Amino acid sequence: MQPALGKEHYVSPAAYDVERERVLMREWTCVGRALELGVGPAATGRVAVVEVLGESVLVARSDDGRLTAFYNVCRHRGSQLVPVAAGEADSVTPLAVRALRCPYHSWTYDLDGRLMRAPHTEEWAGFVFVQLTPSDAQPLAEMLGAVPERLGRYPLASLRVGWSTSYDVQANWKLICENYNECYHCAGVHPELCRLVPAFARGGRDLEWEAGIPHRDGAWTFTTSGTSERAAFDGLDEDERVRHKGELVYPNLLLSLSADHVAAFTLWPLAHDRTRIDCDLLFAPAETAQPTFDPSDAADLWDLVNRQDWAICESVQRGMSSRAFDGGWFSPMEDESLDIRRWLLPKLQRQSLERP
Ligand code: FES
Ligand SMILES: [Fe+2]
Repeated sequence: MQPALGKEHYVSPAAYDVERERVLMREWTCVGRALELGVGPAATGRVAVVEVLGESVLVARSDDGRLTAFYNVCRHRGSQLVPVAAGEADSVTPLAVRALRCPYHSWTYDLDGRLMRAPHTEEWAGFVFVQLTPSDAQPLAEMLGAVPERLGRYPLASLRVGWSTSYDVQANWKLICENYNECYHCAGVHPELCRLVPAFARGGRDLEWEAGIPHRDGAWTFTTSGTSERAAFDGLDEDERVRHKGELVYPNLLLSLSADHVAAFTLWPLAHDRTRIDCDLLFAPAETAQPTFDPSDAADLWDLVNRQDWAICESVQRGMSSRAFDGGWFSPMEDESLDIRRWLLPKLQRQSLERP
């Protein structure tokens, strides 16, 4: 058995501060769906406020349709351009403006971000990403790797949020990623899910993630009944119409794909032991437009499974914090290729700490 990532990476506030600065601030963070943020492709002259890793960031759709982003900080004396207290970004409705005028001494900025400290921003499949340290930027495409190709038949860009909720989880964000990456826990933690997907009960060994995970006979999607009135997405192959796929885009976007809906999770690290998790269920626009549209068959199952996962992650966080715990092990059923150490440790070694 391999030793897992050291304890301090989960329970130490000081280790979290280093990780936040050296790793998370240099990666692409998914901040949600462009449409939901109010800066969809047609929403020119709109500005949304998001809080990423404790930084207030403005995401704008400029007049020429480009997505831009800037730190919510005036170059003159540092006032916030859009005053918003920590933790309150979600309550700010998108602004419809041609320019931003600082409330302090009225310096004015247009929405191309040119005169501002500008993080990078890009869109993939309807998701907006920001990278807060442009001097250290890796292209978004590089970070996404083979994911766009593997999900190429799912119409992600056109999907609409049909249900969403948010969870405040008292656990380190990496525990949530690691839990998402293994199914060794499924038999014990998710009895309902294992009835729908019997392969999960076997611990997830030999799961064919590339072709997708089959459901029990007669079932084809992640709902309480295993079926749905909704149609499968157009363009899926035969496997995708009846199987389930999953992707983890480090560090903060988790995608779980059924034939008729996609569960998209964004992780928002708040502290070494606290993560907000937004869960959006995405559906074809033809479905959400129906007067009879009802996402509850999928939402009920997801909410149940989510709460089971977050509760076990919180329990791990508490257990790891014990003086009796001095580091864990990966058992043979936890796929070593998904070992988070491979992703995290080289990035933590990065020396440059230039500010944006
Ligand atoms: S601080 Fe913004 S104009 Fe003075
Ligand atoms: Fe789980």
